[in-house]
Amino acid sequence: MKIYTKYQSLFSISITLVLFALTAITNSYQYDSTSRYDTKFENNAWVDTISTNLSGKQLYNKACATCHGANGKGTPKDQLGLQAQPADFTKCNFASREPNGDWLAVAHQGGPTRGFSTQMPAFGEALPEKDLQKILNHIRSFCTDDNWPRGELNMPRPLLTEKAYPEDEAVFTTSIDVENEGAVNNEIVYEQRFGARNQVEIVVPFGYRQQPGGNWTGGHLGDMAVGVKRALFHNYDSGTILSLTGEVIFPTGDTGSGLGKGTTVLEPFASFGQLLPANGFFHAQTGLELPLIREAGDEAFWRAAIGKSFNPNPWGRTWSPMVEVVGSREFESGTATHWDIVPQMQVTLNTRQHIMLNIGVRIPADDPARDSQFMVYILWDWFDGGFFEGW
Ligand code: HEC
Repeated sequence: MKIYTKYQSLFSISITLVLFALTAITNSYQYDSTSRYDTKFENNAWVDTISTNLSGKQLYNKACATCHGANGKGTPKDQLGLQAQPADFTKCNFASREPNGDWLAVAHQGGPTRGFSTQMPAFGEALPEKDLQKILNHIRSFCTDDNWPRGELNMPRPLLTEKAYPEDEAVFTTSIDVENEGAVNNEIVYEQRFGARNQVEIVVPFGYRQQPGGNWTGGHLGDMAVGVKRALFHNYDSGTILSLTGEVIFPTGDTGSGLGKGTTVLEPFASFGQLLPANGFFHAQTGLELPLIREAGDEAFWRAAIGKSFNPNPWGRTWSPMVEVVGSREFESGTATHWDIVPQMQVTLNTRQHIMLNIGVRIPADDPARDSQFMVYILWDWFDGGFFEGW
């Protein structure tokens, strides 16, 4: 399976870095008001030449309250004669997670720009963006519990580093060894929030292996895991979120095919996310793997990713190139530290922006004898709608 040489790996890193640099240069001078991940840092740039003297509340009452209700709860659709029910903005569980970028897109362009009903009208021509922003600030006041982390802190997910944001999402990741013996590892991660700051996750890995004779054996289950995450700290103004997760990895895997450790492993870790200016973002995660059978050896790992989101079409999909670095080390003396570098690109696939694809290459940086892996995931933010909704 030697379809990917080291030179090709270097080539793909360079391409990603160049893309990344180009994006950074071309985007830093113009404010990109439509990214779903931003709005906070450059709010001043909203300032429009046309200025209305009405407050956000007054504008909301004039333009939105008929359908959304002066109290933000949403007028019953039957009363309005509509098929779609205007959302209840007082529900923090819903409102807190929707980033301003998405709401602005809907208010400016109308429902269909995010795969919603045409019964949500477009206001982009009637109201300048500055006024729409004031209205959004007023809509934000309907959820009165700031225990809920804001959706802006839910930054694009790297291939390996776990986000700090508690999420309702399902992620299917495949990594394919592209050198030496073939191996395909798949992982399904299911995450569900509970309460304002918590999340449970279930991880089900399974893999396929190429045998020395060239044949493939398949469908082996790996070590399944269950974890609980809690956001300890989050602050929209500083763009920061920090969480702790405790995970238990069970020895369900087939050790014979290299898919299991053969012992229960405890994995505590911390994850950190930080919004950066100009739609940039940074993730870091560090933790321990502590096998219950002591001879298996404890391990420490750390991962970090830096990236930037951009929208070539103002109201359209979001592209997020990132570079990720992952490292791990067994505590036993004399073992080497492993380093991998993972250039990658995430893109939102559908109109609603809740189905995302990420493609990258995991390249060993310390030991050329280890395999490079091609990695890809499909992420479904299932709270925002069914997999086939909003395309
Ligand atoms: C004619 C009625 C009507 C008016 C007026 C109206 N909306 Fe809506 N709005 C809707 C409906 C209906 C939906 C739900 C669409 C759906 O679920 O498919 C909606 C959805 C939305 C959403 C999407 C929420 C989500 O699910 O993420 C936002 C944001 C929004 N409206 C903002 C506004 C703002 C801001 C104004 C005023 C500037 C406004 N709306 C005025 C009917 C209206």
